[in-house]
Amino acid sequence: MPRISDASKEKVREAVDIVDLVNHYTDLRRNGSQYMGRCPFHEDNSPSFSVNPHDKVYHCFGCGVGGDVFKFVQEKEGLDFAGSIEYLADQFNVEIEYEELDPKAQERQKQRERLFELLERATKFYERTLADSDEAAPAREYLAGRGFSPEVLAKFRVGYSPKAWDKLFVPALRQGFTEKELLDAGLVQYNRERNQIFDRFRGRIMFPLADKKGVVRGFGARGMRDSDKPKYLNSADGPAYHKGSQIFAIDHARRPAASKKRVIAVEGYADVLALHDAGFEESVAVMGTAMTEQQAAELARMAPRVYLALDADAAGRSAALRAAEVLGAHKDTETLVIQIPDGKDPDELIKNGGPEAFEAAISRAVTVAEFAVAQVFAEGDLSSAREREHVLDDLVPVFNAMAPGPVKEDQMRVAADRLGISEAVLRESLRERARNAPKPRRQDEQQETAPAPPPRPIQNDPRERSERIFLAQCLSNAPVGKTYLEQLQDGDLSTPLMRELRDHLRNNAENPLAKLPELKPELQSAVTEVAMLSEREHASAEVIQLGFLQLEKAGLDRKISGAPGDQKAEIELKRQELIRKIGELSAEFA
Ligand code: UTP
Ligand code: MN
Repeated sequence: MPRISDASKEKVREAVDIVDLVNHYTDLRRNGSQYMGRCPFHEDNSPSFSVNPHDKVYHCFGCGVGGDVFKFVQEKEGLDFAGSIEYLADQFNVEIEYEELDPKAQERQKQRERLFELLERATKFYERTLADSDEAAPAREYLAGRGFSPEVLAKFRVGYSPKAWDKLFVPALRQGFTEKELLDAGLVQYNRERNQIFDRFRGRIMFPLADKKGVVRGFGARGMRDSDKPKYLNSADGPAYHKGSQIFAIDHARRPAASKKRVIAVEGYADVLALHDAGFEESVAVMGTAMTEQQAAELARMAPRVYLALDADAAGRSAALRAAEVLGAHKDTETLVIQIPDGKDPDELIKNGGPEAFEAAISRAVTVAEFAVAQVFAEGDLSSAREREHVLDDLVPVFNAMAPGPVKEDQMRVAADRLGISEAVLRESLRERARNAPKPRRQDEQQETAPAPPPRPIQNDPRERSERIFLAQCLSNAPVGKTYLEQLQDGDLSTPLMRELRDHLRNNAENPLAKLPELKPELQSAVTEVAMLSEREHASAEVIQLGFLQLEKAGLDRKISGAPGDQKAEIELKRQELIRKIGELSAEFA
C-alpha cells in the first residue's frame, strides 16, 4: 500500500476533535484549559487522565500512558499507524492523499500485491472447489457433520483443495503468474528429481489465514483422514506469511473485541469457527504454537482483557502458562485463563453444552496466578511427604512471580492447605528455597535478551519522577529552561529514557510534540507527560535552578557509591559544595 502523505496526516490531525474522540471511551470534564476524566487504559477510580485540546495530546498521571490522537486510536482500536490515520480520516471526514514511493519501493510493493492477488485467487479457487466439485462431497459432509453453519464457513472462506498435483498451479501459470511467485506465495513445492513444481495443498480442507485487514497470507489445511500427516499442513514462512505474527480470525475479531473489551484466544481453527457460530465473535486462534511476543502484543492491542481458552491437555496447559508470561509484559492487559472441563477443547464444549456452557466457563475464568498454582498441584504428587517437598520446589517460581496482594495471599492459603502445612511454614520454606535457588543471570546479560519493558507507571520511581518534573519546569520557562537543558549531564539523569527525553527537548524546545509519532512509545508518553505538566504552572528561574542542583546532587550520590577510593574524596567535595548551594537557595525561598 502506498504511503499516506505527511500533509494528509497533518490534515487529519487538524480535523480531529480530541475531546470528541476520547469522549467515546471515557467521560471528560473541563478543567481549566484541559479536560480530565477516568483513564480508558487502566482501572481508574479518580480522574487521572488528562486531555489537552489545543495540542491534541493525552496523558494519564496514573498509569503513564500518553500520546497524540494517532497513538490513542492505535491503542484503543488495535490499529497500526497508517490504520489509525485512515480510521480518523474516515471519522472526521478528511480525504487522504497517498504519496508516490521511490521506484524501487514501488516495485517491491507491486510484487507484494501480486502475491496477495495470487493468494486471493487461490482462496476463491478452493472456495469454489468446496462448493461445486464432486470430489469435495465428502468434505462438505464432513464440515456439515461437525456442525459448522454455512454462514460461518462462508465468513471464514473455508475451501477444499483438489487431490490432483496440478489443479492450482497450471491455471495460475496460464494467467501469467511465475513459478517463483507461486513458490513465494507458498502454494506450490518444488520437486528436485523432476525439476518441476507441484501443488502443496491436495485433498485438504482449506482455512485461509488472513492478516488484520483481511488479506489472505497463507493457509492452514486439514486432512480428512486420520492417516493424513500432518493433521494440519500450514503455509511455510515466506515473503507473504509469517507464522509468528499470524493470528487466525484477527480480521473478524478486531472490532467485536474492541467493543466487548475482551478477546478470547484459543488454539485451533475449529474452535474459532465454533465460537463465532455461537456468538463469541471476539475469538481468535494462536494456532497451536507457543505464543510469540508479536502475537501477545497484537492481542494486547485488541482489548484490555485477554482470555486464554487453550486445550485442557498438558500441552495446552503449558502453552497457557507460556502465553500468560508473554502477555504479562503488557501491564495494561489483564490475562485470565478459561478452564475447559473434562479435557475438551472449546469446540467440543460448545457442541455439547451450547453457548451457555462456554459463557459459564468464561465466568469461572481464573487469574494466571490461580491457574499456575492449580497447575503445580494438578501435576504434582501429594501422596507422600517427600513428594510434597517437590511440589513446594515447583511452587517457588510461581509465588515469586506473583505481586504481593490479596490474590497471592489467597493462593498461599490454598497451597498451604493442600500441602497440609501451616502458612507460616509454607512462607518459610518458600523463602529458604528461593535463597538456595540458582542466581538469576547477570544484569547486563539480561538486558540483551529481555524484551523491551512496557512503559512504566510514572509514580514507580521517585527519582525519575523528580527528573520529569524538572524537565517540565524547563519547558514552562523556555528561556531559562534552555540553558539548564544544555548543562544537564548524562550522570544527572537516572535512566536512559530520561537522557533521551532531555535530548528530544533540547532539539525540539519550541514544539516538543511535533515529532511525536516518530518516537518510540515510552518516549512518546514521557514527552506528552512533561508537555502537559509544563502547562500547569510556570516555573521561576530560582525553582529551575534549585531543581537542577538537586539533580546534580542525586547524580553525585549515584556516582560516589561506585567510584574507586581515590576519587571518592573529590566527588564528596563537589557534593558538599552542592549541598551548601542548595541550602542557600532554599533559604531564599523560605
Ligand atoms: P488441534 O489438533 O487441537 O486441532 O490443533 P483443532 O483445531 O481442534 O482441529 P479439529 O477439531 O481436530 O479439526 C490446534 C491447532 O494447532 C495447529 C492448528 O492451528 C490447529 O487448529 N496444528 C495442529 C497445526 O498447525 N498442525 C497440526 O498438525 C496440528
Ligand atoms: Mn478440536
